[in-house]
Amino acid sequence: MSKIIIGNWKMNPLTSKEAVGIVKELKKASLRLKNTQVVVCPPAVFLKDIQSELKKTKFSLGVQNIFWENDGAYTGELSAKMAKGFGASYVIVGHSERRALGETDEQVNLKVKNALKNGLSVVLCVGEKERDKHGYYLGFVKDQVEKALNKVSGTSLKNIVIAYEPVWAIGKDAESPAKPEDLFEMIIYIRKMISDTYGKKGVESIKIIYGGSVNSKNAESFLKEGDAQGLLVGRDSLKANKFLEIVGLTDKL
Ligand code: PGA
Repeated sequence: MSKIIIGNWKMNPLTSKEAVGIVKELKKASLRLKNTQVVVCPPAVFLKDIQSELKKTKFSLGVQNIFWENDGAYTGELSAKMAKGFGASYVIVGHSERRALGETDEQVNLKVKNALKNGLSVVLCVGEKERDKHGYYLGFVKDQVEKALNKVSGTSLKNIVIAYEPVWAIGKDAESPAKPEDLFEMIIYIRKMISDTYGKKGVESIKIIYGGSVNSKNAESFLKEGDAQGLLVGRDSLKANKFLEIVGLTDKL
């Protein structure tokens, strides 16, 4: 299975000029890639400019959130249909920074289903806020996955990537990145869960990746020892050279 590296730019950079500058650097590497998909998720206002920059490359474009209706009186929201019209083929759903603003598991599920219906692939983020020694965090993640995939069919799983992102490992105030062995445990756990519901075929269709303080130094350990099928990169996706190092080493594995 090919690997996937996703850059989540969050609410950065400030101008379209800077955004285009980053992708201009990134796209130089696109044609060399053999076995790695790359997805860039900028703020939606930059989609148009970035879309034209990424034409004729193998890179894909994604958005960081959508609403679960296609159109209507929903002030400030963005629909999957709109995002698709601007070249997005992926959407990040259920990121912990959105959940922290009040997004519920039920809303995440509605967004997942609407994205799939409109032909967007979903990057579903799950992850516990803290690790306890009793293993309650496993149940927490299970609950998030089950609720997000409620009434999602097995045939849709090929269009879903589960990003395991422990909240304590994300961002500049993170305690630390996860340990590859902890990631390995979680990935097996999620695969088992998918297998119980969707069978072997389900496990073979879905990708499970890691996110949280990924950089060019630790990326390989998550892919090799952690057995992640890709990475969701925040801060280091805004630095073209760092992101390309991550993409490059992934493609060599
Ligand atoms: P980070 O963010 O790489 O800056 O920790 C990851 C994410 O939130 O997806």
